[in-house]
Formats: sequence, structure tokens, C-alpha cells
Amino acid sequence: MSSLQSAAITAVQGWLPPDKLTNADLEKLVDTNDEWIRSRTGISERRILKDPTKATSDMAAEVIKGLCAQRDISPESIDLVIVATVTPDMFFPSTAQLACVKSGATNAWGFDLSAACSGFLFALRTGGQFISSGTHKRVVVVGSDKMSSIVDYTDRTTCVLFGDAAAGVLLEADATGENGIRDAILRSDGRGAEYLRMPGGGSLNPPSHETVDAKMHYLEQDGKPVFKAAVTSMADVSYEIMERNGLTADDVSWLVPHQANLRIIDATANRMGVGRDKVMINIEKYGNTTAATIPLCLWEWADRLTPGENLILSSFGGGFTWGSIWLKWAIPQQTKAE
Ligand code: UT7
Repeated sequence: MSSLQSAAITAVQGWLPPDKLTNADLEKLVDTNDEWIRSRTGISERRILKDPTKATSDMAAEVIKGLCAQRDISPESIDLVIVATVTPDMFFPSTAQLACVKSGATNAWGFDLSAACSGFLFALRTGGQFISSGTHKRVVVVGSDKMSSIVDYTDRTTCVLFGDAAAGVLLEADATGENGIRDAILRSDGRGAEYLRMPGGGSLNPPSHETVDAKMHYLEQDGKPVFKAAVTSMADVSYEIMERNGLTADDVSWLVPHQANLRIIDATANRMGVGRDKVMINIEKYGNTTAATIPLCLWEWADRLTPGENLILSSFGGGFTWGSIWLKWAIPQQTKAE
């Protein structure tokens, strides 16, 4: 590691659609109730991108623009943009390409990364490598998902869970060499596909009247097996990254968990021995925004973080995919997100 640069987050930005979908609104759509949703998931409301002319790339572009404004740099100085998403604007061109045009990041190359709720962690690890190797100076990693475009609002088992949002970070070499991404454990197991997927529209089930009639263009989830796998895997990997780096619960300043279910978050924190006061939780306001949850937390908590603090970022999601990243916060107080 000594000859490599340390890839650090030097700006963090979120973008939320203005329209809210509350539990009371959902009670009018499906047979559900506020008490069930809050007690089983922790969610009270989520944001929905209602403007039919806007898509995942528009949200990602707002994040890129915000990151550049915060750091006082031109979007033209960005070298690479990675967009983690399961709701791309279209199969191709990539959402990253579209977001680059919309944000003015015209010199960047880019690509989309598909790893569902672990997309941000997979993309952060990937983007960090380009900084560490010294080949790139400025890499943007965005998690952006317009989940409302693939959610079936007649299915009470899934429609209460998801929301739309984008958030992301700018990665640059850490000036001190001390802060930034320190370690990552990332895992995947395609056998999880049967429990969480969107089966229609791809090369296996190309769009047809039949696939539309069978609702194959919506997200499908068998919640119980996903829950069981999430509780175990997210907790295990979060503990493992602490253990292999000799970190105690006292060393951890913040757990930044994927926001799918408050019960999964609590199980992870318990396994790590970390108290609720050190866990970033905003699921009640936004629900599960898939690739955006973790950077959205970082953005909301940025004004409480100080350089050198140890953060453990953890996720579990479709694929299955899961993982944990240990990083040391690098943004000084005065340049924090507005
Ligand atoms: O981020 C991607 C990864 N995804 C996750 O991590 C999600 C993991 N899974 C979960 O978070 C939970 O499994 C859910 C929140 C999706 C469901 O919670 P659960 O405690 O596993 O409930 P369940 O699926 O076992 O359903 C319990 C009952 C059922 O009724 P019966 O069969 O007991 O009569 C469901 O039909 O709750 C019923 N139910 C609902 N009731 C009111 C399911 N959805 C609803 C609803 N409102 N929205």
C-alpha cells in the first residue's frame, strides 16, 4: 500500500426529489397501514421523482454539479464518473454518459455499475482504485436510483419499501496520506437472484405483451429469505472488517449502513458492538433508495464528521451482493456540504 495513493472522499452531495409519498398515501393505494410499515421496516415516507421528463441521469447530474460547486472545481476537470444504479435511463448509452453531458463533465469517461443496494460500495471500491494507482486525479462515484420506475404500486409487499434519490462523492488522493479508503470486503452470490430481481426486459425475457401482462418489468422480492440473508451477511462482514483491521467498537466513530430495514441495521450494529448513537439512520424519511442510501447518509451527517474519524460503510442487496468498507473521513470542517 505504501507506494499507492490513499483515495479519499473530498466532497459529498445528495439530491432528493421534492415530492413525498407517505405511509398514509400508501394506505390509499394498497391494503397496508402506517403501524405495519413503521414497525416492520422503520419507514414513514419516501421521495418520488414525479416529473415524467426526468430520470436517473438527471438526479446523478445534480449530484455531480453539487460536488463540483462544493469543491470549487469545473466539471470539466472530472476524469471518471461511475454511476451505480439498477434503474438506468435505458440499456445504453449508460446513465453515466448521460449524466456527464447534463452536468458538463465533458472530459470524463464513465460507466454504470449494477450491484443493486451494494452498488455504491462496489463503485466506491472501483473508483478508489483509479485514484490509488495514480492514473486519475478526480473520480466521481454516484448512487442514483429512480426506484418508482420499477416498483409495482399494487404490490404491498414491495411498494412500501422504496424511494427515489441520488447521492455521491468526489474521490481524490488524500493530501495527508492518512485518510481515505483503508480496506474493503465485497462479496456476491448469484444464487440470491431468485429472491430479489426484475425478471423482464433483458435478453432472457425481452419485452413483449406477455412480459408486461405478467408484470415482469417490476421489481420482485421474496422478503423473508432476503431478510434472513441480509441480517447475517451484513452483520458478519461488518464485524469481519473490524476484526481484520484490529478495530474495536470504540475505534468506530460511525456505522453507515444501507437503509433497507431498521431491524437489519440494528442487527449489524449489535454484532459490531456499536451503539445506536453511532449509527447513521434516515430510513424513516427516504425508505430504501437502493444505490443512494449510503452516500445520502454521508451527505446528511457531513457537518458532524471530522477528519480521521473511522467510518464503516455496510450493505446488503440484490444479487445477492454485500460488503463493508472502512474509511477515514477526510473532509475538513470548513468545506462541508451545505
Ligand atoms: O435492499 C434490498 C434488500 N432488501 C431487504 O433487505 C429487504 C429484506 N426484507 C425485509 O425487510 C422484510 O422481509 C419485509 C419488510 C419486506 C417484510 O417484513 P416481514 O417481517 O418479513 O414480513 P412478511 O413478509 O413475513 O409478512 C408478514 C405479514 C404477511 O401476512 P400473513 O401471511 O402473516 O398473514 C404479509 O402478507 O405481513 C403481510 N404484509 C403486509 N401487511 C401490511 C406484507 N406486506 C405488508 C404491508 N402491509 N405492506
